[in-house]
Amino acid sequence: MPGIAKRIVPLPSLSATEALAAGIAAIARAGDCILLEGPLGAGKTAFARAFLRAAADDPALEVPSPSFTLVQTYETKIGLVFHYDLWRIDGSAALTELDWEDALDAITLVEWPDRLGELRPDDALTIAFRQGDGDAREAALTGWDGRLPAFSSGHDDGGAAAA
Ligand SMILES: Nc1ncnc2c1ncn2[C@@H]1O[C@H](COP(=O)(O)OP(=O)(O)OP(=O)(O)O)[C@@H](O)[C@H]1O
Ligand SMILES: [Mg+2]
Repeated sequence: MPGIAKRIVPLPSLSATEALAAGIAAIARAGDCILLEGPLGAGKTAFARAFLRAAADDPALEVPSPSFTLVQTYETKIGLVFHYDLWRIDGSAALTELDWEDALDAITLVEWPDRLGELRPDDALTIAFRQGDGDAREAALTGWDGRLPAFSSGHDDGGAAAA
């Protein structure tokens, strides 16, 4: 789709991923959906954990990977947050049993969002993680045009941005 701006944020360490997550949590509000893409071990759960700890203002908050439960919910200072890991979901129809409709009214974090199929929200923020050497990662952010803060380590990729 033309005119969609993509923001690349280098994440040289876990703490950079945590800082990005806290920055997103600071602007997140009810109705927001954040889709976390990338391969196994790319840092999707690490991002979600840091987002939830910032949202709850509790650096010790337990945030297990929802890879077996498929969804975990959290009451935070910015409202209810649903954290999904859809790797093992058996078709997007199963989302109705996982409170997907309620989640859309709250704040939603989704690992493996390709499993959403046509349920993927158009107005979501998509964060695609890429793995580099060692602890290095890179996040490509798409969506929420005009809402994202100027991340100190980030830059625009130029070309795709709408004038
Ligand atoms: N820059 C970084 N950003 C995020 N995680 C990092 C970084 N550097 C190292 N790590 C480590 O990489 C691992 C990322 O694992 P994580 O469970 O977040 O991956 P995932 O994308 O959720 O994988 P899965 O698809 O299996 O759910 C963690 O052990 C984390 O500490
Ligand atoms: Mg994970």
